[in-house]
Amino acid sequence: MGISFAVKGALLLLLSPLFCSIVIGATERDPLPPRVPDKERAAAQAMKNPVATSPESLAKGKELYEGKGTCLKCHGATGKGDGSGAKLVRPAPRNMTNPDWQKARTDGEMFWIIKNGSPGTGMVALIPSDITEDDAWNIINYVRTLK
Ligand code: HEC
Repeated sequence: MGISFAVKGALLLLLSPLFCSIVIGATERDPLPPRVPDKERAAAQAMKNPVATSPESLAKGKELYEGKGTCLKCHGATGKGDGSGAKLVRPAPRNMTNPDWQKARTDGEMFWIIKNGSPGTGMVALIPSDITEDDAWNIINYVRTLK
């Protein structure tokens, strides 16, 4: 009996952070350290956005962000990381309105993440399953307006 009580206590301890994260919502992991792995970062940072920012590109980017890109579901309508699905992922989705994070990332690094995902998180690869490379560059132009 003593043992089963201890086991129950241990289980409760193990499960309580999980429970709290479901109820309260997960927090964002420190957004500033780079997410692209070391050996791929220089190449990602050197990538140039081939799509110029224009009213057309921003309109397309917004439509894709809210539509087939599914970004809205996690990152939220205004990019705060508070979409309807945000509570289901841990760590929390990036708050794209953070100007320090925006400054810390190149378009190429964002592109790498959209193409490969952020390892070990709910940010999964979305190219080519959901969007094309061209779509992603338009979305990145739009994301730049969220800060
Ligand atoms: C299922 C939820 C989910 C969806 C859908 C999603 N994201 Fe994310 N995203 C996340 C999470 C979680 C993180 C935080 C990952 C981390 O902290 O490393 C993140 C992080 C990011 C980052 C930041 C990476 C960095 O370098 O800091 C970018 C850029 C991004 N997402 C873009 C997008 C775009 C664009 C879309 C739509 C095409 C999208 N995401 C769709 C969950 C999602």
